[in-house]
Amino acid sequence: MTLQLKTINGVPLSEAIASNWDEIWGFQAKPGDILINTYPKSGTTWVQEIIDLIMNDVDEEKCKRAPIYERIPFVDILHLMKPGVEEVNAMPSPRILKSHLAFQLVPPSFWKEKCKVIYVARNAKDTATSFFYFDHMAHLHPTPESWDDYLERFMKGDVGWGSWYDHVKGFWEQKDQHNILYLFYEDLQKNPLVEIRKVMKFLDKDLPEEMLRKIVHLTSFKKMKENPMANYSTFPSDMLKQTDHKFMRKGKVGDWKNQFTVYQNEVFEADYQRQMSGSTLKFHTAV
Ligand code: A3P
Repeated sequence: MTLQLKTINGVPLSEAIASNWDEIWGFQAKPGDILINTYPKSGTTWVQEIIDLIMNDVDEEKCKRAPIYERIPFVDILHLMKPGVEEVNAMPSPRILKSHLAFQLVPPSFWKEKCKVIYVARNAKDTATSFFYFDHMAHLHPTPESWDDYLERFMKGDVGWGSWYDHVKGFWEQKDQHNILYLFYEDLQKNPLVEIRKVMKFLDKDLPEEMLRKIVHLTSFKKMKENPMANYSTFPSDMLKQTDHKFMRKGKVGDWKNQFTVYQNEVFEADYQRQMSGSTLKFHTAV
């Protein structure tokens, strides 16, 4: 069976998500919920682990109580896995939740309840590269035919969760109208302590410097790759096949250089200028 994407409000979504759209749109956020929202492959898991550590006062053992996808449920696919809607409804506050939905698709209850939203953006070329490998593993999405074809689809926004360009610009334009902290994957790589402190302040926590340093250590790529509660090795294999590729792949800035040809880079750059023109959003890719 060939998997299809289905468009909801202008955004292509996996059919498994689109077919449950009314329930997702009606998700009931509660006051105090914290939402981590990203375009896929932008460092979601990294920031999830950082936030769980902050909210649990850097209790390393407590943050190994369950896999990351159970500690921080994924709003978009609650109907496909555990914890499902009922378990999430029963979770104590403050709940930490994850979503990849574009701004206009975020369930309105999050805005109504004035929830804190932490958005992470990653530069387009590394995101496209990471997503290409991820879509070989993810059973939700059509398997990429070739890198060339996939890159075309990425530029057109014809991939799961839609256009990267619209996603990053959508949250950027709304960040001052809502309670949104907008972070960059590249900044986290360059100066994790500074970025983690920003997250801590946004969450109204006050942890001493040495605890923040411990978070930097515990959430390094190497430590998270080794941690079965953070590395997705326990994720159901019928949804994520990690035989040829692993969820924790490289964790680098600039890996796109190993993926793009010179020609693809030129075409991508020209298209990027067109799609991002008029936006004040700028990525800092040099680390
Ligand atoms: P790569 O495929 O480039 O390695 P998400 O969690 O949004 O799905 O993003 C996954 C990407 O973030 C993957 O990128 C993964 O390796 C990277 N990543 C996960 N944890 C990380 C960490 N602690 N430090 C740096 N990168 C990390």
